[in-house]
Amino acid sequence: MTGTGRSVVAAQARAIADAWSPPGAPESWWLTAATFTTIAEDEPLLDVALARAEPARSVRGNLLDVLPDVVASLPAEALVCLVDTYVHVFLPPPDLERFDGLIAEIGRERDLEWVSVDPLVPLGPDARATVQRLDVPAARVRENRDGGVWGVIGRVGVRNGVRSDTVLGRAHPGAAWLEWR
Ligand SMILES: C[S@@+](CC[C@H](N)C(=O)[O-])C[C@H]1O[C@@H](n2cnc3c(N)ncnc32)[C@H](O)[C@@H]1O
Repeated sequence: MTGTGRSVVAAQARAIADAWSPPGAPESWWLTAATFTTIAEDEPLLDVALARAEPARSVRGNLLDVLPDVVASLPAEALVCLVDTYVHVFLPPPDLERFDGLIAEIGRERDLEWVSVDPLVPLGPDARATVQRLDVPAARVRENRDGGVWGVIGRVGVRNGVRSDTVLGRAHPGAAWLEWR
């Protein structure tokens, strides 16, 4: 929630509280005025009011099909942030390649960040690549094979059409631990 959004809601709640408490207002109105006064002065309540006023939009569909339209619907000044936890690991190789193409395509139009937490692929004893095509040290690949599956935390960024990437760390599949590199 932005500070600006919070102050706008607070100002509106204050205005409504004032409207419900003009001089000589009937007693039955006081409750409403008090409710809005509380909202105007209560930070957590303001957050709830804001979340209700601007609910997160859910989109159903294959991510490869819906991503371009979802990104296009975002405000032009917003930095696009794609976050995926244990989703891309399920994409078959041709779909992963298609996603990579989408990142390049979107990146030609606007800046973006893609943060991923996904096991090495292909799942199983031959796993050696990340879904983001990041460089993972051979020792890590061996640990993954011998010690059980964990997720690589990685980021891909595109600025002015130029791609960069970083391995940020790794994560237990159930988030029991995170290890930053
Ligand atoms: C292991 S769950 C990850 C759940 C997610 N991280 C969460 O916390 O809710 C894998 C999810 O990936 C979704 N998924 C896999 N392939 C997809 C695709 N092509 N398009 C959209 N969702 C996909 C599945 O529907 C499933 O919900």
